[in-house]
Amino acid sequence: MSSKGSEPFIEAGVRTRRRTLKRPLLLALCATVATLSLYACNIYLASTARGAEDRVHRVPAHAKRILRQCAALRATPEPPHDFHTRAQSDRYEPGTRPTLIKNARVWTGARNGTETVKGDVLLEGGVVKGIGYIPEALLDSYDDLATIHAGGAWVTPGLVDLHSHVGLLSAPFTAGAFEVNSIHGPALPWLRSIDGFNTHDLAFELAIAGGVTSAMVLPGSGNAIGGQAFMMKLRKTKERSPTSMIVEPPHTLNGTVPDPDLPLRWRHMKQACGENLRRYGNRMDAIWAFRSAYNEARKVKQGQDDFCMKAEAGLWEDIHDQNFPENLQWEMLVDVLRGRVKIANHCYEEVDLDDIVRLTNEFGFPIASFHHASEAWLVPDVLKRTWGGTPAVAIFASNHRYKRESYRGSQFAPRVLADNEIPVVMKSDHPVLNSRYVVYEAQQAHYYGLPPHLALASVTSTPARAAGLSHRIGLLAEGTDADVVLWDSHPLHLGATPRQVWIDGIPQLGRADTALTPLPDTEPVLVGPPKNGAVFDEVPAVPNWDLERKQAVAYEGLPPLGPAQARAGKVVLRNVQEVWTRTETGLKERWSGARDADGRSGTVVLVDGAISCVGQEGWCLAGAEDADDALEIDLHGGAVGPGLMTFGSPLGLEEITQEPSTGDGALYNPYAADTPALLGDTGALVRAADALQFGTRNALTARRAGVTYATTALGETTLFGGASTLIGGLAVTFRTGAAHALQPDAIVKPVAALQVHVGRAAPWRGSLAPVSVSTQIATLRRLLLDSVSDKEETGRWFKKAADGEIPLIIGVGSADIMATLLQLKAEVEELRGGRIKMVFSGASEAHLIAEDIAKAKVGVILNPVRPFPGTWDNHRILAGPPISNETTVTALLKHKITVALGVTDAWEPVNTRFDAGWVALESSGRIDKQAQYALITGNLEKLLGLEGWLGDQGDLVVYQGGGAFNMSSKAIAIASPRHGTVELF
Ligand SMILES: *[C@@H]1O[C@H](CO)[C@@H](O)[C@H](O)[C@H]1NC(C)=O
Ligand SMILES: *[C@@H]1O[C@H](CO)[C@@H](O)[C@H](O)[C@H]1NC(C)=O
Repeated sequence: MSSKGSEPFIEAGVRTRRRTLKRPLLLALCATVATLSLYACNIYLASTARGAEDRVHRVPAHAKRILRQCAALRATPEPPHDFHTRAQSDRYEPGTRPTLIKNARVWTGARNGTETVKGDVLLEGGVVKGIGYIPEALLDSYDDLATIHAGGAWVTPGLVDLHSHVGLLSAPFTAGAFEVNSIHGPALPWLRSIDGFNTHDLAFELAIAGGVTSAMVLPGSGNAIGGQAFMMKLRKTKERSPTSMIVEPPHTLNGTVPDPDLPLRWRHMKQACGENLRRYGNRMDAIWAFRSAYNEARKVKQGQDDFCMKAEAGLWEDIHDQNFPENLQWEMLVDVLRGRVKIANHCYEEVDLDDIVRLTNEFGFPIASFHHASEAWLVPDVLKRTWGGTPAVAIFASNHRYKRESYRGSQFAPRVLADNEIPVVMKSDHPVLNSRYVVYEAQQAHYYGLPPHLALASVTSTPARAAGLSHRIGLLAEGTDADVVLWDSHPLHLGATPRQVWIDGIPQLGRADTALTPLPDTEPVLVGPPKNGAVFDEVPAVPNWDLERKQAVAYEGLPPLGPAQARAGKVVLRNVQEVWTRTETGLKERWSGARDADGRSGTVVLVDGAISCVGQEGWCLAGAEDADDALEIDLHGGAVGPGLMTFGSPLGLEEITQEPSTGDGALYNPYAADTPALLGDTGALVRAADALQFGTRNALTARRAGVTYATTALGETTLFGGASTLIGGLAVTFRTGAAHALQPDAIVKPVAALQVHVGRAAPWRGSLAPVSVSTQIATLRRLLLDSVSDKEETGRWFKKAADGEIPLIIGVGSADIMATLLQLKAEVEELRGGRIKMVFSGASEAHLIAEDIAKAKVGVILNPVRPFPGTWDNHRILAGPPISNETTVTALLKHKITVALGVTDAWEPVNTRFDAGWVALESSGRIDKQAQYALITGNLEKLLGLEGWLGDQGDLVVYQGGGAFNMSSKAIAIASPRHGTVELF
């Protein structure tokens, strides 16, 4: 009777009997299924009541289940209506103590982020129980209440990172775990990030130390549909499983039937478009991959709807040989079409955004958030045409121009998006940026013009809303999860650091043994001191960027970055707070303080780009009133300081890092093959100076942030690929503002240093065969001991390095390899009698052998400045506050090592002055202004053999609104004594 594999049908019995006897039963059955199908039941009953005498009606045994299944199709995800009154979280760990945070300033996230409450916060049962005034009687009812005295400190919800690969690309990176992209096709909605989630990632603890309590764990962007994503709490649970870290796991995850009385839970999915899909063809192929996948899903959905329409109309005959149409591969996309999925869509350019928006309208599904979205700020109207509503846009603050797709990314994008009423999310794409510092993305967004309430919301409530989870994370209100951060300053201040972080009410910081899973009954403590100074309690003041922002939009992301004018003659700077200059012997402070005893502010007179006077305004300007043509600029408490230097990135060798057509190209790797005889050099040692490009957007952007000099070497290091060669070649120092190499002093020093890289194979390195560390060291030994004729470039320059005529900069992370290098240095020096000017760059583990590095007089260029245990060579980091009191910088300075700061990527120098500012903020006052400057000028110049090269002819940077190292100021001009001009931006 029934066809193979379908539901067994039964005879419904004699018509008259059913009408008289079975009808109450059917009514009862109908009453039990969800409300929406009652209408269908009524139709069925009505039709049977009227007596369709001509047909034998057979009701399937599983009719109830089918009708329930059909009714469930209409359910939509939302929180249960009484969610905010829940007494306990589903994530509650028994034993968690109720906690009172007393006397805090609470940024709740409510009222679009504008609400601040002064008072207390009560956490109990893994839930926020109260904010503001908490009745004594309630507190008295607890016998194990833990109390924290916040002393007026800022409290926010735990941060939500909407774009992370934590647990998928887990630290330290290993060959066994690259759980992001699948090679099995462009559209794979059936894959789930949770299935590759490593619970031993070293990044969890670090992210929590930055106040991040939840992260959306997304599959990679190598597929159009990369798979399902999950919002994870970063706290390791007692159970230790990935499953137990998911916030509101959907029932589809384990195939259980959801409670029909409760609303559905949101599901999450990653989509991507653009060049990352190259493996599967071009952009046209990618969009077809989407359309064909959604077409499959549409067919399944239509089948379900048709089936249910018949079931609900009682037309069982018509479907007696069918099952409820289901397809495990396409069920996720069917849920997308039913509006039950929050899609995070990686998509950069105008063309890509337009493609996806068109797709959403063709198939009728919403996008929750566009990610990376470098050009989203240029096409707000396109975003607003997205089916189902305007998505949020999740972006980086200053990490732009790394590929063509991000070339038009802008630091002003957050503000432009906000002006267009598009929700802005700042995200990490961890480990591309370290999720720990996602609040720094919000700080930068604020610095470049995003209003403070939206900047804080961009890493809390806005991402939580975009994920459909704002009823429990990203906001603080009665009934939300007890994920709370207590900060050492207002969180939008540079260097803001959590003093305690609670996840599900469990304190995460200040445990004796950080390796242990935090126990629920841990006594909460406050870690570290609050930032010293009233200024840190308030929203930081930031510069005005209205003109720059308007220009950026007008030029579609590529505004001219050169100076607006170059002035010779006299420029008077008034209201100057501090003046530092480079001299032949080092840095010198020339003026400090806003006003003298008589209320006169500091003044600097520049004549032809050089300082002619520094002092009180009356004194400096006496007898100088005749100069009618003098330009006067009020610096509003600003500063004049030496032009900064950057080291470590390919700045100046390329326009776009990942675009080979804009760069220098591949170096010969002498380990992989003999270098061509034509080159006549066994080591293929080449000069970065020969490959320089001037006027790159990265160089000009850096210059506008005060970085007037750069030292660059070939053989770059990348996040995933490691160094491409042992011999990086000869580094060059150049001026970031020069127009071309032939301009006078465009090249400060054509050969600044010999650079090499030593390290273990990066697990995901691309084309180059890894060479053992022992082979690399053996090669260095041989080269330093004169084994190659100095008729060859390799022999010549290694001899100079061995004789100390040129610095030898070694990119190295591991302390063990550094120890070997120190031994090699001693060995070579003993045999040859010279003294090698050795510098370690990278050096994330340098603190472990600081004493020996100091003894060997080796310098260190830290890169990255805030280390991350990404590779095995770098895995033993000194994490800094709030995990350790010392930072790598303070630990090295303690031993009187010459320390400087470096960068890895060419977009980073725009933040060099903030890097130095941050280092000082984490030093408990041990790094003063002179030491701060030295980290990015004098010490770097010393290590690069540039001491005295710039002297008092070096460029000067003019900052308005504050000093060089904080976010209240911006660089507005560069004065160049050597060129006789002041360049005004
Ligand atoms: C929040 O901002 C949106 C968009 O600007 C506005 O429509 C809404 O009324 C605001 N809500 C509150 C509570 O201020
Ligand atoms: C399956 O998932 C649901 C939803 O998270 C959960 O309530 C249920 O306990 C899970 N069942 C099993 C057996 O793990």
